[in-house]
Amino acid sequence: MVTLKLPVILAALTLTKTAHSLPTSVNDTSLVQPVYYPLDLGSIKPLGWFKDQLELEAAGLSGNMFDFYRFVHDSKYIGGSTEYSALDEASPYWFNGLVPLAFGLGDGRIRGQVKYYLDYILDHQQADGWIGFETTQATRGLWARSLILMGLTQYAEADPTQTERIVDAMHRYVVLAHNMLKNNYTGLLVHGNDAFDTAGWGVGRTHEMHIPLQWLLERYPRDNTAIIWETMDLMIEGGVLWGADWRTFWTDGAYPKVYYDTTPYDLSWVFLHGVNMAQGLRYTLSLYRNTGDPALKAQTRKAVDLLATYHRSLAGTILADEYISDLNPSRGAELCIAAEVMFSAAYIHQYLGHNDIADWAEQTAFNAFPVSVSADWWSHQYVQQENQPWSRNLATDDLWWDVNSYGNVFGLEPNYAYPKFLANSFVTTSDGGLAHVFLIPGSAAVSLGKDGANTVFVSANTTYPFGNTITYTISATSPFSFYVRIPMWADSNTTIDAMNVAPNDKGLHKIEVPAGESTASVQLSTSPRVVPRANNTAAIYYGAILYALAIDYDEVSFAPINYRSEEVLVANTTDPLGRTKDFRLTPKAGTTWNIAIDPSQIEVVQTSSTENLNNPIWELGAPPVELRVAAVEIDWPVVLDTAADPGTFDVTPKGEPFAARFVPYGSSKLHMALLPVVRLDQVDLQV
Ligand SMILES: *[C@@H]1O[C@H](CO)[C@@H](O)[C@H](O)[C@H]1NC(C)=O
Ligand SMILES: *[C@@H]1O[C@H](CO)[C@@H](O)[C@H](O)[C@H]1NC(C)=O
Ligand SMILES: *[C@@H]1O[C@H](CO)[C@@H](O)[C@H](O)[C@H]1NC(C)=O
Ligand SMILES: *[C@@H]1O[C@H](CO)[C@@H](O)[C@H](O)[C@H]1NC(C)=O
Ligand SMILES: *[C@@H]1O[C@H](CO)[C@@H](O)[C@H](O)[C@H]1NC(C)=O
Ligand SMILES: *[C@@H]1O[C@H](CO)[C@@H](O)[C@H](O)[C@H]1NC(C)=O
Repeated sequence: MVTLKLPVILAALTLTKTAHSLPTSVNDTSLVQPVYYPLDLGSIKPLGWFKDQLELEAAGLSGNMFDFYRFVHDSKYIGGSTEYSALDEASPYWFNGLVPLAFGLGDGRIRGQVKYYLDYILDHQQADGWIGFETTQATRGLWARSLILMGLTQYAEADPTQTERIVDAMHRYVVLAHNMLKNNYTGLLVHGNDAFDTAGWGVGRTHEMHIPLQWLLERYPRDNTAIIWETMDLMIEGGVLWGADWRTFWTDGAYPKVYYDTTPYDLSWVFLHGVNMAQGLRYTLSLYRNTGDPALKAQTRKAVDLLATYHRSLAGTILADEYISDLNPSRGAELCIAAEVMFSAAYIHQYLGHNDIADWAEQTAFNAFPVSVSADWWSHQYVQQENQPWSRNLATDDLWWDVNSYGNVFGLEPNYAYPKFLANSFVTTSDGGLAHVFLIPGSAAVSLGKDGANTVFVSANTTYPFGNTITYTISATSPFSFYVRIPMWADSNTTIDAMNVAPNDKGLHKIEVPAGESTASVQLSTSPRVVPRANNTAAIYYGAILYALAIDYDEVSFAPINYRSEEVLVANTTDPLGRTKDFRLTPKAGTTWNIAIDPSQIEVVQTSSTENLNNPIWELGAPPVELRVAAVEIDWPVVLDTAADPGTFDVTPKGEPFAARFVPYGSSKLHMALLPVVRLDQVDLQV
């Protein structure tokens, strides 16, 4: 999520001060409503394996940075002296990620951290309404405030004792932001010596202010409605003037299906950056909420489809390091992209209701995200490759656009995506029902019905996606409709209470729940899926999980280093107890990574109980289900010190076919996921 490493490519600034008027047809009650409403933060509690992982996250890097990581611990926002760039965004990202962890998990220690930060920033709100420490026009950029405001709205939902002071602070801030924007987009566009955003990060993310402002408009508009509306419009207008209008990019004509140094391209660099793209998926939707324009809704779907077709990785993230290029599985993707994709997919699903988009959120959550995080949640990888036979300092910097050779080492940097995934796992429906959309274990406590008189509690006991059974325990004061989302990959043998499921066109199966206590049991049915890619290559999925060739490795740990200077990080950036380390992973001697597969021969193997999962779960050998796939060793060229793009070289089998061990991608830090396809003689897979 740290975004400071691109060459500065400024779009030409041609600014004119435009007269702005409030749209007359809209008011606070006319925001487009979602298909599915998220519950207030804190209403959903994790259970089972997901709770285990959040506890590891709290005990790991994310939950300890406050005590030692200088960009948080010594952040200028809380009276310290350290920011890594003029964007001043490090601790705002932390706050936005830690608030849902604190209240999702109900962890007192983490709650203390976010409460300290909340108190500090609210108690130090400046007289003119500015939130943050900056006092000059040159240093006051609006962008990081969007992150703080998102953290604040979640805080206000989760802790009613803080709601009023948060809402007060937000209103004071919006009035100031509105004045700044009216004054030639001050704080958004740089003028003269302004230093807060010389590259254009904030102008590429103008819509990020919409989520908290729409929340304010709907819940606590006070008498500030016109100013809130106009602030959103001014944000968008400023970005458009600069050249960062995502409506011009998410089109068949403008979207670069592949992007190389030589590809003709006229629009701003901001659109080509993976993290921006993952966030920019929400741009047209944010405008759709304000205007109700169906073309913007359709364009949101178009954006999802363009990314899915041309740059979505097998594991669900966007292949971009940090720019998009093509689908070469060696190119890799930044971890921050997976975090943003999970949030965007969940958010878009709430407005479009399309089942495949919810599957996408799960795909990212169960594959792209965990593969980049160490099983103990103390380190993560900056760039993750789908075909990654080793994780070490590469012999060349040329593989990637911007990230250097050190980018695929596991190291120190924050990661905060699972708490938001949890918070979006149950949603309410417009007919007054409740739906379980991301099928992880958890419980939801919610008041349904017109006057909120129906007190409902639902608990989902499951090891999904490792197991395929979900048992619901439900209590309700009155009858209501409960929905279970049936993933697109589930086959017609899927049952609920032993009856075949009948999902609606949004993939939801409805259960009429009576008053009192009841239960329901879902049994998902599926078989391994082979997904072909170009030039006779393929990847294998089973349920929500991507399976990849397991590569046993030797691990060497060492003091964390600055990936850019490659010098050892200063002590006040790392854990004084030595728990922050970097890791080099290399395949064990004799381990084969260079194989082709025959995907007509796949066997599902259960290696341990699907009811009592191991913890940590994202570790090689820990997940209970593996696959055996017929395979053969091949000559696989190494290009730029990593595995060549499969499909671009001839495949020549060497030696006898064998049963290769495929495991959940997220558990196998070294892996090969996209492999050449060959036909092989029958292999005994029961070994
Ligand atoms: C807002 O719009 C709704 C529906 O468009 C309308 O019923 C309502 O009266 C409006 N409220 C105000 C304050 O204009
Ligand atoms: C607005 O800002 C731009 C960029 O700094 C500048 O060129 C322009 O003259 C300003 N316009 C006004 C009316 O101040
Ligand atoms: C969840 O299901 C498992 C397996 O069926 C069972 O052992 C466990 O007791 C259940 N847990 C709860 C809280 O119901
Ligand atoms: C459903 O189960 C039956 C009986 O086990 C099996 O023959 C059939 O192939 C299954 N259908 C699917 C779509 O898996
Ligand atoms: C952290 O260490 C660096 C380098 O030793 C030093 O310049 C900086 O002042 C220290 N910051 C804090 C907050 O101790
Ligand atoms: C397919 O193979 C050709 C020939 O090697 C190569 O030029 C092309 O880039 C490959 N396509 C993909 C998508 O890998």
